Amino acid sequence: MTSSKRIVLSSDHAAIALRQTIAEHIAAKGWEVVDIGPTSPESTHYPKHGAAAAERVVSGDCALGIILCGTGQGIMMAANKVKGIRCGVCSDIFSARMIRAHNDANMLSLGARVIGEGLALEIVDAFLDTEFEGGRHGLRVDMTTELEA
Ligand code: RB5
Repeated sequence: MTSSKRIVLSSDHAAIALRQTIAEHIAAKGWEVVDIGPTSPESTHYPKHGAAAAERVVSGDCALGIILCGTGQGIMMAANKVKGIRCGVCSDIFSARMIRAHNDANMLSLGARVIGEGLALEIVDAFLDTEFEGGRHGLRVDMTTELEA
């Protein structure tokens, strides 16, 4: 059975340091962190890392995922190609709360070249500490999922 507090992290080369800081932060909050790398600073390709993290989520291995690249945009686009993923890029706390509350996002994407460490950790907290509200938002999430068919 999937732990509801098991989370996958991945990034490309542009975000390794911030990813590792976030991993420590999340672990300190009591989450089981599955950091699938990479650890090498060599240039790599964000689509494969976004897809690998997304697969951990849709398979049920992890309840949520956090992915990063320079802008957060490319890896988000890749993750959203995996059926069942709802991933948003956030550079502010309000959006991080709302993608959970209204969109039932199961992945968060961050841009390591866009935001600093302090804001990134507050965004992560907002994402992890907010529950999906359901109700009318559930209908809209279902309508979005139907677009995958
Ligand atoms: C890598 O240089 C950069 O393009 C990547 O990290 C990301 O920002 C793409 O969306």
